[in-house]
Amino acid sequence: MALLDILHFPDKRLRRQARPVEEVNEDIRQLVRDMFETMYDAPGIGLAAIQVNVPQRVIVVDVSEDKSRPLVLINPEITNLGGVESMDEGCLSVPGVFEKVERADRITVKALNSQGVEFATDADGLLAVCIQHEIDHLDGKLFIDYLSELKRHRIRKKLSKRARAEVQSGSGSRRVI
Ligand code: NI
Repeated sequence: MALLDILHFPDKRLRRQARPVEEVNEDIRQLVRDMFETMYDAPGIGLAAIQVNVPQRVIVVDVSEDKSRPLVLINPEITNLGGVESMDEGCLSVPGVFEKVERADRITVKALNSQGVEFATDADGLLAVCIQHEIDHLDGKLFIDYLSELKRHRIRKKLSKRARAEVQSGSGSRRVI
């Protein structure tokens, strides 16, 4: 296993449209293992392959407190959504920033698992928010895109200042998607 480097906003590689996985093979399973290790190490509760510079439609998620609910979604597609939820979100690619985003509260998502078998699952609350956030990554979209241009500009300034100072800001006790 290996820890992978996570791209940070405003890196343009985060803006690519990820390609569907054509075959769920051993390379993809290795990527999934490395993504889990990277996500747990960060620590975060979700990670999309595009964030580790692999533009393919693979995401890993675990919203549990004890790493007990790992979920792999390959070529995920939301087939149903309902309700409205407004939650503070953070992102491993936008370190130290937390802002409220409005999303659907309940979703049904279908995807392939790491054996290449299609399945569908319902999710609500934090898990639903997390899956929507990660699928956005696959389409080159970040949670800060939902904020005003002024706020996004401030975030860009804050992150570039931090990059110059080479200071990594921790997320404290907050959970990062
Ligand atoms: Ni994210």
